[in-house]
Amino acid sequence: MFNYACISNARISIMSGIVVLLSGSGTNLQAILNAKHPYTGADKIDVKYVISDNPKAFGLERAQKEKIPTLSQPNIKLLEKSVTKLAKANKVDLIVLAGFMKLLSAGFVRRWESHIINIHPSLLPAFKGAGAINRAYDYGCRMTGVTIHYVDKGMDTGKIIAQQECRISKRDTLQTLEKKIHKIEHKLYPNVIKELLKK
Ligand code: GRF
Repeated sequence: MFNYACISNARISIMSGIVVLLSGSGTNLQAILNAKHPYTGADKIDVKYVISDNPKAFGLERAQKEKIPTLSQPNIKLLEKSVTKLAKANKVDLIVLAGFMKLLSAGFVRRWESHIINIHPSLLPAFKGAGAINRAYDYGCRMTGVTIHYVDKGMDTGKIIAQQECRISKRDTLQTLEKKIHKIEHKLYPNVIKELLKK
């Protein structure tokens, strides 16, 4: 049962696994790794590689703990080359950005068009870029949410795949709002990835 408001009907070819790109703590990666039946392993998302521009990203440790190969490369051009090479070698069709803080080049994005997705903590097109949760809170919004979208050459401008709303109540603090947003992310992202992998 999917709990999101809309999913576009964009098509993706049959996919076998994913590569995750991240820069930080990797709680979304963890949610992706946990998205399997606890006993049978059914519905497991096959994470082939975790790659970061930040060698200190805690997400790399999370991957290593699960015996998933990792790579860190601060140079974005070299990182893109490695992603393409590893994705081809591992028959990966979906590149998943999960808190990846660098802009990918137009050439790379074109090469992987319709095969790179990102998660963003707002209802795009509102609050693109960094600090989306804080800005929605400071602005006094009564509603914000989470968006999953294809990546294009812009910043948070690609076609929307799924969105889920999150109400901001008068009693919410920034911390409680962040918690609510992350809870939505951790359910929505694995569900959308699984749905795309089925197509
Ligand atoms: C998430 O809020 C995601 O929406 C944004 O970056 C954050 C990453 O968090 N793009 P984490 O590293 O997965 O904990």
